[in-house]
Amino acid sequence: MKFTSLPLILLVYLSVSRAAPFSRRNATLAWPEPEPCTGNCTGVHDPSVIRREDGTWFRYSTNGNIAIATAPALTGPWTYRGAMLPSGSVIDVVDDQQLWAPDVFVIDGEYHAYYSVSISGLQTSDIGLATSVTGDVGNWTDHGSVGLPKSSDYNLIDANIFRESESAPIIFNFGSAWGDIYQTTLDDDGGSWSGDDIEQKIFNSTYPPDQDYRAISEGSFEFWWPLNGTNYYYLFFSSGACCQTADDLKAPGEEYKIMVCRSTSATGPFVDQAGKDCLTENGGTLVLGSHGEHVYAPGGQGVYHDPDSDRVALYYHYADPTIGYAYEQFQFGFNYIDLSSGWPVVTA
Ligand SMILES: *[C@@H]1O[C@H](CO)[C@@H](O)[C@H](O)[C@H]1NC(C)=O
Ligand SMILES: *[C@@H]1O[C@H](CO)[C@@H](O)[C@H](O)[C@H]1NC(C)=O
Ligand SMILES: *[C@@H]1O[C@H](CO)[C@@H](O)[C@H](O)[C@H]1NC(C)=O
Ligand SMILES: *[C@@H]1O[C@H](CO)[C@@H](O)[C@H](O)[C@H]1NC(C)=O
Ligand SMILES: *[C@@H]1O[C@H](CO)[C@@H](O)[C@H](O)[C@H]1NC(C)=O
Repeated sequence: MKFTSLPLILLVYLSVSRAAPFSRRNATLAWPEPEPCTGNCTGVHDPSVIRREDGTWFRYSTNGNIAIATAPALTGPWTYRGAMLPSGSVIDVVDDQQLWAPDVFVIDGEYHAYYSVSISGLQTSDIGLATSVTGDVGNWTDHGSVGLPKSSDYNLIDANIFRESESAPIIFNFGSAWGDIYQTTLDDDGGSWSGDDIEQKIFNSTYPPDQDYRAISEGSFEFWWPLNGTNYYYLFFSSGACCQTADDLKAPGEEYKIMVCRSTSATGPFVDQAGKDCLTENGGTLVLGSHGEHVYAPGGQGVYHDPDSDRVALYYHYADPTIGYAYEQFQFGFNYIDLSSGWPVVTA
């Protein structure tokens, strides 16, 4: 592994520095390293982080039948506890199906985990729900599909719950790789689809130079933050190729990265920092991309107000080229973001 990875890493950096214009290099140089993470910070994909009232942090992520890790702080030390659904989901989509990308949210005092059932390349995925009183390993009950209709317009993966208050509608963002990011609502207990319209919110019609299918946007995460009397709604998402191997890297810039669009309404329309519409004009503002020696293709992100530090954390998975690009080598990372300009800026 060590012998083959070194020349490839050099190759990647050579092509990055050739391709990137000066302005972009300066911007990328400005991104700080991930905050320190101790304990088990590896084998993590598409993390969802939540802090229980007793101060225990939970990290749910793609790996096995949804990996559960706990820690006394966001920085760790993280301990792997086991799988959320050890015998898988009751949903039956395809042989060899996998559970992906949990989004964990508290509704009526219970942990609700929305997970995807899929396999690479499949468009007929489904989204299921498991609930728990404590959030711990061994305390989860599977409820199966939330009942969204399948459609050739989108792919039922990467659920994200957004609820502004305990009495507000439960907004459900999902998708998609196909058709990018969609939004609808769940019924008031979060158990199933409400029947409301399913609306496309983010779409990228660009074809990357080395690809015969459209650029991928997926893994959305909505977050709101007030500024000068206005509530801003940020729809973060991951754009590009999520999971590459050292011998099959995309052209620099086409790998996973974290983007954002913003609205003054939870349901959009969303625009980027340059004012481009994120549904009709390929809008999207880069928040965090590959940078330095240790961070490649960050994505699968979420945003959480950390009550311990009273700061807003942007957490994600990434590959560290000095460690490797393999599935079990993906890293968990986070940085704090500053929203005081009205747009998220990754800060040290
Ligand atoms: C980018 O960095 C170079 C080299 O340090 C510097 O000359 C240039 O002014 C910087 N550009 C911007 C836009 O900051
Ligand atoms: C670390 O956590 C990952 C899941 O995130 C798990 O697959 C792996 O077994 C854990 N390693 C140890 C040593 O517990
Ligand atoms: C989860 O824990 C709660 C509180 O201890 C308990 O009442 C409940 O029965 C547990 N549920 C499962 C499925 O283990
Ligand atoms: C749209 O796709 C192009 C080509 O892959 C990419 O360069 C750009 O960053 C994407 N934009 C968004 C908002 O995802
Ligand atoms: C918010 O209000 C303060 C005080 O009026 C002002 O200085 C700041 O520029 C405003 N910020 C934005 C992003 O509008």
